[in-house]
Parts: sequence; structure tokens; C-alpha cells
Amino acid sequence: MKHIDNTPSTPGKFKMEKSPYNRLRLHSSLAKLTIWSLVFLGLIFIFFFRSPSSSSSGSLTSDPSRRSLRTSSYGGLAWEKRIKASAKVRSRNGMSVLVTGAAGFVGTHVSSALKRRGDGVLGLDNFNDYYDQSLKRARQALLERSGVYIVEGDINDVTLLKKLFDIVPFTHVMHLAAQAGVRYAMENPSSYVHSNIAGLVSILEVCKSANPQPAIVWASSSSVYGLNTKVPFSEKDRTDNPASLYAATKKAGEEIAHTYNHIYGLSLTGLRFFTVYGPWGRPDMAYFFFTRDILKGKAIQIFEAPNHGTVARDFTYIDDIVKGCLGALDTAEKSTGSGGKKKGPAQLRVYNLGNTSPVPVSDLVSILERLLKVKAKRTIMKLPRNGDVQFTHANISLAQRELGYKPTTDLRTGLKKFVRWYLSYYGNGKKSAQ
Ligand SMILES: *[C@@H]1O[C@H](CO)[C@@H](O)[C@H](O)[C@H]1NC(C)=O
Repeated sequence: MKHIDNTPSTPGKFKMEKSPYNRLRLHSSLAKLTIWSLVFLGLIFIFFFRSPSSSSSGSLTSDPSRRSLRTSSYGGLAWEKRIKASAKVRSRNGMSVLVTGAAGFVGTHVSSALKRRGDGVLGLDNFNDYYDQSLKRARQALLERSGVYIVEGDINDVTLLKKLFDIVPFTHVMHLAAQAGVRYAMENPSSYVHSNIAGLVSILEVCKSANPQPAIVWASSSSVYGLNTKVPFSEKDRTDNPASLYAATKKAGEEIAHTYNHIYGLSLTGLRFFTVYGPWGRPDMAYFFFTRDILKGKAIQIFEAPNHGTVARDFTYIDDIVKGCLGALDTAEKSTGSGGKKKGPAQLRVYNLGNTSPVPVSDLVSILERLLKVKAKRTIMKLPRNGDVQFTHANISLAQRELGYKPTTDLRTGLKKFVRWYLSYYGNGKKSAQ
């Protein structure tokens, strides 16, 4: 698309020289030039507005696993200007951060928190259709109002990533783009490899070549603890028995981070998120679709471990997670490499970001019933062996000590805020959560 930058005036000039009317007076040539320029601009306009929709609908119908591969049109002076404005640092000692997955749940909240305190933020998101795209668009609109621009593109598009680094010398990358969900991995395994492994590598490749190299904070997952039974989960515990492909790709990400830190001197911090919930959350998560189904009067399935064992999660409220992310960015040391070469040892960290108080899923449902004032139709099901683990429980003392991380929102308080958002967003039956 680069050629678009310098095209508009060229066809007019070309026509002027070759035209049989080129002996006419100057003002008529100028008029023609203007007309041809307008025609050409019109063509560009039509091209721009047609191509994204036709290419996306094509890829959606032909191959659902490829839906995140579509590339967006980008380039142009106006585009670069938007990027620079969005990434402009407004506070003293502020950072300029590239946030991947910025239209996602955590990405939106982190971007807006960074922007609010004066950091420069540029978003990147491919707006794939893993869940309701209109929710992602609504988050994008929210961010746009606070001055955060989201570039539409894939983290596997190395050319695009390099271009972004050419425009802005990012000091930090907050890498949150990922294929989430544990059960969907059986439907579409390649999307996990595409986003969580190939995508991570392309981000790290571009970061290691960037000058200066940024510090990177990225989303790992509590699922790396897999089938561990020792609680609470501590960062030093082994993480080599994942229970889902999702978990395996996140674990692979931690190993890949180790290599890029070791070879290229990239400063890398992985955050193991524990069941993050809250306003603008992800519709594929239990608290979200339980809310939708309870309101609809539809039965909900509650999983039970063997021998009536309780399934519990260390639910962590989004505002607490955001504080942990900012703490990780603020304490990240600079990468040490340059020109793709390591100059000295660099920081390599991993932290649990949880709430340290697991709540049984049946209690989650009771809280929702009280908040929604509707009784849930519960069906108890055996916990399937397709990715879900029986419980998660974070030991957060390391994050407490080193990031100043201190979660303050209990599940009842957090769900109250979620339900208030849910009812205002989906209220009056105008929109329906899918
Ligand atoms: C929590 O993790 C810290 C290391 O960060 C460790 O010293 C402590 O023993 C752990 N606590 C428990 C209860 O496992």
C-alpha cells in the first residue's frame, strides 16, 4: 500500500504531457489536473472501503481457522499522524507502549489506564471473530474517545510491526494479543499455535531488532500450573504438566521468552493471570455466559470434580490485574541488546497475578443469582477432561514484593460492578450477548 502515498498527483501530470490538448491554456490544464486527481482519489477511496470487507467475508466463509490471517490496509501520512498522536508521551518520564490485543478485555483496560496517567499508547488488534466482534468494536470506540488509536493488523505481520517501530521508538511492549480459552483448542488448535507461538515469536523478532530494544511485558497464564495439586501455586513450582493446548502454548511462550532474553538481551516479564473478570469482559468466560443464561432463564452447567469435589477459581478483578500490569511495566528494566546483539544480561521475570482466595464456582452462581435477582437453573456436570483443571490458587507474594501488587476487590464487589456494566451494555434487550 506504500505506493498510495505518492500517487494522487502523478496521473494528472502524465495525462497533461500525453494529451492532444496540451497546447490549451494553462488554466484548462490545471482544471484537468484537478479533475483527474479527483477521479483518482475517488478510485483510491472506493478501493479502501471495498477491500477490507470483501477480503474478510471471503476468509470467513472459506476457512474459519484463517480468520485471523487477514491483513488490513495501512500506510499513508494521515495514518502515521494518528499513530504518533496516540503514542505521544504526555507525562514526565512517561513511556510509550505498544499494546497488542488492545481491543481485548485486559488490553482495553490497560491501554486506558496508561493513557490516563500520561503514557503514550498505541493499540494493535486483528479484531478476529473468536467472540462477538461488536464488543471489541465498542471497546475500540471507548479507547478512541480517550485518545488511543488501535491499528488493525495481525501480530504475525512482521512488516507492519517493523513499520510501527519505524514510526514510534516504543520503550515498552505490553503483549496481550493471544488466542484464549481452553476448550476451543479442540475445535481450532492451529489458531493457538498461530497467535500464542508464531505471533509471540514475530513480536520478539521485531523487538530484538528494534533500536532501542523495548522492554516487554506479556500475558502468560495460570493454566501453566496444569494438573499441579500443591497449593497455592508459586512461580517456582513445576509447570510441565499442562492440561490443555492453550496451557501448553503459554508454557512454550515462557520458554521462548527465556531464549530471547538469553540470546538477544531482551527484558521480558511474563504475567500469569488467574481468571480475570469484570466490566467489558470476555463472553466466553463462565461468569459472563452464566449471567446471560441466568437472565434468559436458560439452564447453566456447573462442573463438579470426581467424588463431588469442588471446582474453584482464584477470580481476579480487572482493576487489580491492571495495577499488576502497570507495576510490571514500571519495574521493567531496559533491554540490553542493540542491533540484534546482546550486550549484557537482561531482566527475565515471571509473576502470578491472582487474588489468593479461590471461590467455588457454585458460590459464583449464588452471588450472580442475588445480584440479578433471578434463580439459576443449575445442572451439575462431571468436569470434562478437556482442559479445565479443578482449582487455581495463586501465591502472589513475589508480585507483592517486587511489583507492589495488592489485589483489593473480592468476588462479590467485582461481580456487582460487572453486573451493573452488563445490564447497562446489553440492557433493554437492544443488544444480546452471543
Ligand atoms: C509463596 O511464594 C514465596 C516465593 O515467592 C515462597 O517463599 C513462599 O513459601 C510461598 N508460600 C506458600 C504458602 O507456598
